[in-house]
Amino acid sequence: MEVIIRPTAAEAEKLTARIIADAINAKPEFKLGLATGATMENVYAELSRMNKAGEVDFSQVRSWNLDEYVGLAPEHDQSYRYYMNKNLFNNVNIDIRNTHLPDGLAADEEAEAARYDDSIDEAGGIDLWLVGIGCSGHVGFNDPGTSFSSRTHVAYLTKTTYEQNKIYFTPPESMPRRAYTAGVGTVLDAKKIVQLITGKRKAAIAAAAIEGPMTSMISSSALQLHPDTVVILDAEAAANLKLRDFYDEVFQNDPKWAAYR
Ligand code: F6R
Repeated sequence: MEVIIRPTAAEAEKLTARIIADAINAKPEFKLGLATGATMENVYAELSRMNKAGEVDFSQVRSWNLDEYVGLAPEHDQSYRYYMNKNLFNNVNIDIRNTHLPDGLAADEEAEAARYDDSIDEAGGIDLWLVGIGCSGHVGFNDPGTSFSSRTHVAYLTKTTYEQNKIYFTPPESMPRRAYTAGVGTVLDAKKIVQLITGKRKAAIAAAAIEGPMTSMISSSALQLHPDTVVILDAEAAANLKLRDFYDEVFQNDPKWAAYR
């Protein structure tokens, strides 16, 4: 696991966007895993800007998102399809038919989850999955207790996650309590994982996930198992990390990061 700390959230977001853009430029038929949430909004704004400036081309990119609420139509302004269209897909030259999210309205939930995993496998797997972290330690909606080998499934959301996200719904109680999520195992199958963590409210869970023992009580800690994970944090989110100085030393001196300093 590589850990990069940038002084501000804006710098962390820009670095994240650049790493994604460089990966797409190196392999135009890219299979990109995506996340939603407040953390990613500026990453998608930066990728949209880069696309307009001719710095990254999404024309051959295919994407799969981590999650979608059960029961929400794509037009619902809190559905993750709506979020993705608004924040990224409508702003870049991606073919919307190449963008995938679980269907929140599918009649057969198990079949929909299996179909989703199959579609990733048939495409040859995800090249890079961009993920965040929730205050419960979740990646996707893999709340505490989710198996590290889980595949896409419908999860009943914990109270912490419900409290974190219901503020976006009107009224808050209308937030669905169940959601499709790619499993921890689904995410670990990606060739590369990039995790972005910003803000001081994430400092405690970031330290537990990155430097604590691996446990299914913090699904993000499973990323420690992955051979190519980069975690990008701003200084506030990194405040509780024990090896901060070492991570900074590596970023400043390792030639592989020279282009990104
Ligand atoms: C969203 C997702 C979640 C979020 C997490 C953080 O697709 O998978 O795991 O990344 O809940 O959300 P924000 O960024 O709103 O703090």
